Amino acid sequence: MKWAILSDVHGNLEALQAVIADLRREGAERIAFLGDAVGYGANPNECLLLLRERTEWMVAGNHDYGAVGLTDVSYFNPTAKAAILWTGKRLSPESRAYLRGLPLLRKVAGITFVHATPHAPGEWNYIFTFPEAEEAFRAMGGDLAFIGHSHSPLILTGKRDGKVTLYEEEEATLEQGIRYIINVGSVGQPRDGNPNAAYGVYDEAGKKYLLKRVPYDIQTAQKKIISAGLPRSLAQRLSEGA
Ligand SMILES: [Fe+2]
Repeated sequence: MKWAILSDVHGNLEALQAVIADLRREGAERIAFLGDAVGYGANPNECLLLLRERTEWMVAGNHDYGAVGLTDVSYFNPTAKAAILWTGKRLSPESRAYLRGLPLLRKVAGITFVHATPHAPGEWNYIFTFPEAEEAFRAMGGDLAFIGHSHSPLILTGKRDGKVTLYEEEEATLEQGIRYIINVGSVGQPRDGNPNAAYGVYDEAGKKYLLKRVPYDIQTAQKKIISAGLPRSLAQRLSEGA
């Protein structure tokens, strides 16, 4: 079974369409979405519809819940807050109902799929440091979790003795007896210095993981953000991957 794992689309329809075309070429049989369909980009309803159509299932991100009043957005920075208010006003009643019904975490075939952390998904914490990674491994059931949220791809490994290692690698063959938390990066707003859309492919049979990067029509996504009246910095950052 070959999975395509997508996260953090953030209303960027051009990036999502490019990724969907690419994962077809990869022969992915199941598509999982790790949250943040909306927020920042100009096409929240369109992205949500396309994700609903193409993915097997989705979990909620903080922007998805934030846009429909299910999580506090007072800690969002001013730009993110402006975007989430804009998004909240434009969501269709159907989109709104769908976002409100999303779960925080899914476990399928022993694999955890979650936006933020496997142990406290609704607290929207990040896993950036060794202590954060150690806590996540201690509390996580199973050997493999896919996450998003930081928009930066990362492979974390946890050994039985508790030793954690962070790799900024783009591929890995998963070994028996080692646990993994893999951040698949962001489709719609990468922040690792590479502006191409990112998503993960996991081949269960060969235990092989690969991060894919897909060029897309960034200029059109930027023009839409500006003409929608969203903060201009949200357009600018797309060409920087920041
Ligand atoms: Fe996000």
